[in-house]
Amino acid sequence: MMSITPDAVNKSSDAATMPKPLALADVPAEKMPRHIAIIMDGNGRWASHRGLPRIEGHRRGADVVRCITEECARLGLEQLTLYCLSSENWKRPVEEIAFLMQLLELYMAGERPLIMEQNIRVSVIGRREGIFESALREMDQTVTMSAQNTGMRLCLAINYGSRTELVDACRHIAHEVRSDRLCPDEITEETIAANLYTAGMPEPDLLIRTAQEMRVSNFLLWQISYAEIWVTDLFWPEFDEALLHTAIRDFASRDRRFGGLGKAN
Ligand code: IPE
Ligand code: IPE
Ligand code: MG
Repeated sequence: MMSITPDAVNKSSDAATMPKPLALADVPAEKMPRHIAIIMDGNGRWASHRGLPRIEGHRRGADVVRCITEECARLGLEQLTLYCLSSENWKRPVEEIAFLMQLLELYMAGERPLIMEQNIRVSVIGRREGIFESALREMDQTVTMSAQNTGMRLCLAINYGSRTELVDACRHIAHEVRSDRLCPDEITEETIAANLYTAGMPEPDLLIRTAQEMRVSNFLLWQISYAEIWVTDLFWPEFDEALLHTAIRDFASRDRRFGGLGKAN
């Protein structure tokens, strides 16, 4: 297995401190998404198409995570949620899993200065079981250190599966009922939402998926009920700020009806 150097995820970015021209000035503030969620797919295929090992794709994917996080914070988004590892991804070869754990550890440690500099609050959703101890340590430290930050929330879905999230929520609600703290008839949509890992977070307005697939792969099934979906054929390592702007412009042009009647009526 190839090893990764801290440089791979710890490039100090001069661009982060340089003022940039205001992107998306043409999009009215009320048309901007508050919360974007991304299924970052296609790292392996990006690498395979170049005759590189799959892990090269993950390494490049981590660079894109930095770039897109920075841009979303700069645009003033309230939240960015990134699907980093699904509860089904454990089916992959042990070498790939080991690399992803190593990358996670280095990302959590290496990105801390940039996260603090950009006033980003990091949250993690998913089950802790299976995540390597060394990665958990760095993850916890980044979450704790950034907890008081007041800028964009960066929510990382790691060992996340929407079905396990719903199972965990049901278990918790069942315990509440059994101990007479909750009456079954009082269970509402708000009760469910408040028992998900994402309790207190806004629902995604825009769901982006890279690498062509037209599926949600067990991601935020409850929370994306009314998200606008935007897909691209490009692989995650090819995703960039310009493409993010394209997705946001497309989102801004849509008529979100939420089951009601649109503007044309
Ligand atoms: C997404 O890229 C990253 C993870 C799921 C960890 P993939 O690794 O799924 O890349 P493809 O879809 O096989 O190309
Ligand atoms: C979804 O990608 C999970 C992440 C991006 C972390 P997958 O590559 O695991 O999804 P499938 O297997 O194509 O549905
Ligand atoms: Mg994939």
